[in-house]
Formats: sequence, structure tokens, C-alpha cells
Amino acid sequence: MLGGKSVLGEIRARFQAALSGLVDSTVEYLDLIHRSQSQRFGDYQADLAMALAKHLRRKPRDVAAEIVARLEIADLAEPPELAGPGFINLRLREDYLARRLNALLHDERLGVPVIESPQTFVVDYSAPNVAKPMHVGHIRSTVIGDALCRTLRFVGHRVISDNHIGDWGTQFGMMLYGYRHFLDADAYRQNPVAELARVYRVVRRLMDYHEAKAGLPERKAEIARRRSSIEGLRERLADPTLDAKSKDKLTKELRRAEAALAEAERDLASVETLLGEVEADPRWSGWAAAHAGIGKAVLAETAKLHGGDEENLRLWREFLPHSRHEMERIYRRLGIRFDYTLGESFYHEQLPGLTEDLLRRGLARVSDGAVCIFFDDLPAPMIIRKQDGAFLYATTDLATLRWRMENWRPNAILYVVDHRQSLHFCQLFAAARMLGYQDVTLQHVSFGTVLGEDGRPFRTRAGDTVGLESLLDEAVRRAAEIVAGNDDAKPQGPELSPDERRRVAEVVGIGALKYADLSQNRSSDYVFSYDKMLAMNGNTGTYMQYAYARIRNIFAKGEVDIDALRLAGDQIVLAHPEERALALEILRFPEAIELVLEDYRPHQLTSYLFDLSNCFSTFYQECPVLQAPSAEVRTSRLLLCDVTGRVIRCGLHLLGIETVERM
Ligand code: ARG
Repeated sequence: MLGGKSVLGEIRARFQAALSGLVDSTVEYLDLIHRSQSQRFGDYQADLAMALAKHLRRKPRDVAAEIVARLEIADLAEPPELAGPGFINLRLREDYLARRLNALLHDERLGVPVIESPQTFVVDYSAPNVAKPMHVGHIRSTVIGDALCRTLRFVGHRVISDNHIGDWGTQFGMMLYGYRHFLDADAYRQNPVAELARVYRVVRRLMDYHEAKAGLPERKAEIARRRSSIEGLRERLADPTLDAKSKDKLTKELRRAEAALAEAERDLASVETLLGEVEADPRWSGWAAAHAGIGKAVLAETAKLHGGDEENLRLWREFLPHSRHEMERIYRRLGIRFDYTLGESFYHEQLPGLTEDLLRRGLARVSDGAVCIFFDDLPAPMIIRKQDGAFLYATTDLATLRWRMENWRPNAILYVVDHRQSLHFCQLFAAARMLGYQDVTLQHVSFGTVLGEDGRPFRTRAGDTVGLESLLDEAVRRAAEIVAGNDDAKPQGPELSPDERRRVAEVVGIGALKYADLSQNRSSDYVFSYDKMLAMNGNTGTYMQYAYARIRNIFAKGEVDIDALRLAGDQIVLAHPEERALALEILRFPEAIELVLEDYRPHQLTSYLFDLSNCFSTFYQECPVLQAPSAEVRTSRLLLCDVTGRVIRCGLHLLGIETVERM
């Protein structure tokens, strides 16, 4: 690699040299150099003269002119152009682009520099609650976390991935209760996982039933309150003397109130459905009557487990491997592995000591019998130990943080967890600072909710959250249809054996699922749709994998030994504008990766890959490859295809997505 820098990095270095003597600290100014939005402004654009002029109290245009005069960049770019109040536009030289591209032919890293000062990252992701089936929400954490680990490692950081599974919570109280009251011993012997899942669901449903029943009067009262306040709003709106502004405000308020009422009514309807179903079924209504105190009983089982009860511990040890095994199967299928899986139970014994420590150091205090940490600038305290002696999720997280700091000494810990836990993480991080962990970056890499096409959290018809396993199966089943359809439609007849079709469908289906998730800005909610996800066109995994296979197909069709061609070296020449555009895009790969890591947003990479494939499509339409006008141009274009394919494969790989040679 030339100087171990990306194109942008190299441009920045030249500007840095030009700025020396003008300002002391250049970083903030160098950040103002970026890819141009439009061809009119060249390839790269430096907007730093304006900011610098403010600092120097000079005219922006003069500052820009001075920078240009100092800039030594003639080997990379045409003479810089000054535009507007002080923009500096750069157009890179074709021979420079070609030189950089030729350097990629033998560069495994495809131009991505290795970081200068590697750091240690702990990435906390996936973290499902054992025993409960993994659902679609967990896929986001899993897929985003995995992509971040791969990308951080690729640039040279030391990464420790740790799956903080929930293996110690109430769900075990539920399983213990279910095991004692509802187990079918034969079924358990034959398929423990399925039977445990079944008794878990029975207990869950009975708990839901009793909760729903107890909460029914309050729900109804709430709806009545909402109705009457809507009445009130309507009456006020009917007042003819109302001015336009108040009318506007009231209308908005009315809309909100109506939406909230509709939501409450939907909730009531689903609660009533549950009550109706249970009561109409003699077996369920019998159970419901016989287990009226189930909520309390489940808590008692959990407390016994946490208190060290022999029998509950023995059963917990018996259950756990079954659930773990189930999880492992899904991870294998997703191609995901963790360095550590230290679940909540791992920290259990440290909780009393941690609590004592917090009290002794005066960081926590007793309030209403509970041990709490109070914060100056957060709305709620963090409860460490409840009145009844029970520890909480937060307590475990604090112990986990301390353990990681002591054992791994990371520079950063990333928590890939959904946005609803943001208060929890604010508290956790504030508590960590109080404990004296000042030098570590703590970041909640939060993400939005996966929605169904109705805009509400994604659920099955029965109202259950959708299990991850069935999601994968469905994606692969649909991918198989697409792959078969594609293959059957090939002009020379089908190419893939049934085995190959199956393998390709698995790769395409799972790839599409991952890509759909990763291509969304993680902060937003997104609507899950199999059709959109598997579409052959647009920013989808299927499209990207197809783009890769299409490139590989060029070599197959032309019987090109691309590896040999690559070895012959330095043969890329950029003559056509579309070749140049493609070259620029290929060379932007390191910038995309930098953007991903700037704020831990993998969609920066999917967007880049999508731009790259579009660029490639245009190039491929405009520039014949196998039928190129001369042998030299043919070689050059084949090599351009090759680098494009390698960048796509590498990019997808960083996202945890595999590629196939044919599809
Ligand atoms: N098990 C938790 C859940 O499913 C997520 C845990 C995330 N990691 C953490 N360190 N809190 O909601």
C-alpha cells in the first residue's frame, strides 16, 4: 500500500503539511475534507478555509489561497480549484488512481490501513435470555455486534466478544415451576429442549392470564378516562370563538389522544382474547384456577435458586445445557462465535461483595430498605439490592463491568442492546465512573425495534414474538424458490445441482436476513418484510450476492484465469469515464470502514457496497469487458472487475455475510 494510507488519508496528510505553521492543532480542520457530493466539485473537497479563517481572523478566500499555495499535491491531483467563499476542490489524476488500484491487486486488505494504535474492545452483544426462545429482536443485536467485531478486528484492534446471556433470571423460576407441575416425563426424556420450552410456555401463559385478569378493571377505567377526555377536547374544539392557533393545538392534542385510545383499546382486545381463550378451554381454565398464585410462586422458586437451594440448583444445572445447546445451533447456522459466554450466573457470587463495597465507599446508600446509587443528573437511582434482598439486572451488569475491567483492561466496552435500555446504561456508566473507571470508553450501541408490516412490533399471528429459528427457515425457504427460479431461467439451462441449490439458498437466505438488518441505520425501527429483504433489486443482500456472482461469472464465461492475470501486475489503465468512476469508488472502501467505526454503524458499509455495485453496473453497461477493443483494455477491465468483486466479498465478509460463486 502506498504510504499505508487511504486516498482520503493521503490527501489529509498533504493538507496537514500545508497547515503546519498556520495552526497548532489541525485535526478538526482535516475532518472538513471529504468526498465531493457532485462531480462539479471534483473528487474530494476541502471546506476548511472558512473555519480556519474565523480562527485566524482573516478572509476565507485568502486563507484558501494560501493553503493552495502551500499544498504539495501535484503527484496526486490536478492543480486545486478555488470555489465560492473558499472551497478547495481536488480532482485526482488518472495515473495516481491507476497506481493505487494496481497496488490493490496484491493487497489482501484492499487498501484498508492497519490502525496505528490498536486498542482493546469488549463487545457485549446478542445476550438472549436462555430458556426463552430467541426472537427477532435478538437478531439485531447479534448481527450488528458480529459485524462490529469483524470490522474492528479487520482494522487491527484487539476484540473480545462476550455473550452476556441471561441464564439466571425469573425464566428459571418459571421453568422450575413448570417442571414441578406440568412436566410430561416421557416427552422430557425424548426431547428435553422441546418439553422445557412447552412447560415454560404453559407457565408464561398462566402468568399472563392472571396478570391480565388482575389488571382488567384498571384497563377499562383507563379507557373510560381517555374517552371522557376526548369528549372534553371535542367540546372545546366546537367552540366557535376559538382562534386558529388554539384550534390547531387542540386538534393535534385530540389526534394524539385518539391514537392513544386506539392503542389502549387494541391492548384491551388482546387481553380479552387471552382471557376468553383460557376460560373457554376446560383444561386451561382448570389450570388457571388451580394455579392462582403462580406469579408469586415463580418468584419464590427464583429466590430459592438464588439463595442456593440444592434441588433448584441441581435442576438449573440440568436445564442450562439444553438451552445452551439450542442457542449454539442457531449461532452455528448464523456463522457466529463468541470468545466468551459469561452469563449473568457467572457473576452471582460477586454481588454481595460488590454491594458491601459500594456501601463502604459511600457510593450507595440504603433508602426504604433498598440499596441504591443516586445520581445528580439522572432521573432515577440505580437499585442495587431490593428490600427483600434480591439483586437486579443492573447489579449484575455493574459486577460484569468491574470484572471485565479487572481481567481484560479494555479501552472500550460496547453494549449492543436495544434502545429501551438506554436509561439502564446511562446509570450503569455513571456508576462505573463513580467506581473509578475513568479511562474506558463505555458506549451503548443502541438500536430500534423490528416492526411487522402493520407497523407494530413484529409478531406471529398468535401474538407470540417470532422465534429466530423459524425466521431463518422461512428466509431460506423463500431464497430456495428464488435460486431455483433463477437457475431454471438460465439461457443454457440450469447449472446448479440440487445440493448446490440448497447451499446457495442457505447462504442467500441468511445473508438477506443479516443484510436487511445491517442496512438500516441502527437507531431507527425497521419494518421486517421477507419480500423486500430477498428482492433481487435494490439495496438487499440478494442483490449484493448476485453482483458478486455475476462478476465471477464473467471470468467463468471468458475462461479467464484471473489469479494468473492478477500476478502479471500493474495493468489497470483508466481511460473511460466509467472506469475512472469505478476506480474512485473502489478506493473509497477504507473510508466506508472508517465511517462504520466512527459511530458503530454498519449501514455505512452496506450503503457503500450498494454504491459500488451500482457504479459497477454502469461501468459494465458502458465498457465491454470480454469483448473489449484490445487485449490490453480487456485485461485492464477484467482486473477492475476482479478488484470490485474482491471488495464486495471482503465487505460482505465484514458484515458476516458469505458469498457464492454461482447463483
Ligand atoms: N439479556 C438482556 C436482554 O435480553 C440483554 C443483555 C445485554 N447486555 C448487558 N450487559 N446488559 O434484554
